[in-house]
Amino acid sequence: MISMNSVRKLKSRLIRFHGGGMWVRLPLPHGTSRALTLLTVAAVWIIIGGHIEPVFGNPSGITNIFKPLSEPAQEIKEVSLLVIAICTTIFLIVTGLLVFTVIRFRHRAGDDASEPPQIYGSNQIELAWTVLPLLIVFVLILVTSRTIADIQNRKAGPGAVHATVIGHQWWWEIRYPELGIVTANELHVPASSVSSQQPTFLKLESADVAHSFWVPQLAGKTDVIPNRENQMWIEPTQPGTYLGNCAEYCGMQHARMLIRVIVHPPGEFEHWVTQQQQAAAEETSAQAGRQIFFSNTCVNCHAIHGTSAHGAFGPDLTHLMSRGTLASGTVPNNPVTLRAWVRDPQTLKAGCLMPNMQLTDNEVNQMVAYLQTLK
Ligand code: CUA
Repeated sequence: MISMNSVRKLKSRLIRFHGGGMWVRLPLPHGTSRALTLLTVAAVWIIIGGHIEPVFGNPSGITNIFKPLSEPAQEIKEVSLLVIAICTTIFLIVTGLLVFTVIRFRHRAGDDASEPPQIYGSNQIELAWTVLPLLIVFVLILVTSRTIADIQNRKAGPGAVHATVIGHQWWWEIRYPELGIVTANELHVPASSVSSQQPTFLKLESADVAHSFWVPQLAGKTDVIPNRENQMWIEPTQPGTYLGNCAEYCGMQHARMLIRVIVHPPGEFEHWVTQQQQAAAEETSAQAGRQIFFSNTCVNCHAIHGTSAHGAFGPDLTHLMSRGTLASGTVPNNPVTLRAWVRDPQTLKAGCLMPNMQLTDNEVNQMVAYLQTLK
């Protein structure tokens, strides 16, 4: 028989882990084994978590810091491996000696109760355990500061691309002031090569709270702080799509503040630039939807280049359909999700600043038809 009390007891011993969209429930023993189980589960979860694809449908979507494909991530990985190697060696020596001592000098039957010989005041031993750690720490300081200096002193050459990334609750505004392009959530950059160095230098700003820009395969995290301009650079050499997240808790939809960096092969970036510089398409077929867009408050928050919509609170929609996702990586950008978004953004991203515009079914259809012309 199972009493309510034993069910309650069992429930209190269940822990729940969440990661990669999955919940795992585990029964927990008590005491030391409980702590060990928790540690093991956490370690396994962290290892698996690093390989779970955080967003839908992207075969190259790795966010693993141990697989860098750009400076400065490569350099940071090398320092990390050195630090891990030194710390692991120290850990193995210390625990090895400890385990050896515990076993070798354990209490045996027939031991007398007298104290072993005391060696307090040995100059050699005290010198050794003062100087050795000092040397190790000194090596770590030198290597780390060299890497930091290398990364911070990087100069933008003539081939560099400059972009400004502005964190908003909960999306990324991306501006290329020199190219006259404004877009959102997808940072497009050229691939760099030895013969043609094209790093991308980023200015990071925030429109509201603190965020953090992090694309693990390209560079370390850089905080995005209100009233402050931070800087960083990336120099990917392999074309592809790189995924990243906001890495500083910034409110309810912090987890749905994803970033994509699209690295173009030589020549293709210029093509993307030319396409983005065009004014918005004007198709006569979608006049009804256009009318709805411009007669509602949409224009207060969104900009469409070449029209009277100049809002700056929400993403620029001039080339909305050129982007792969909606709502900062929340859903893929297709007619079904676009319709759901226009109908009521709160169902896809609760708490987002875009309200339900209370459009009728017919108005939603016309609006979506118009938005789909913004290629
Ligand atoms: Cu933005 Cu977390």
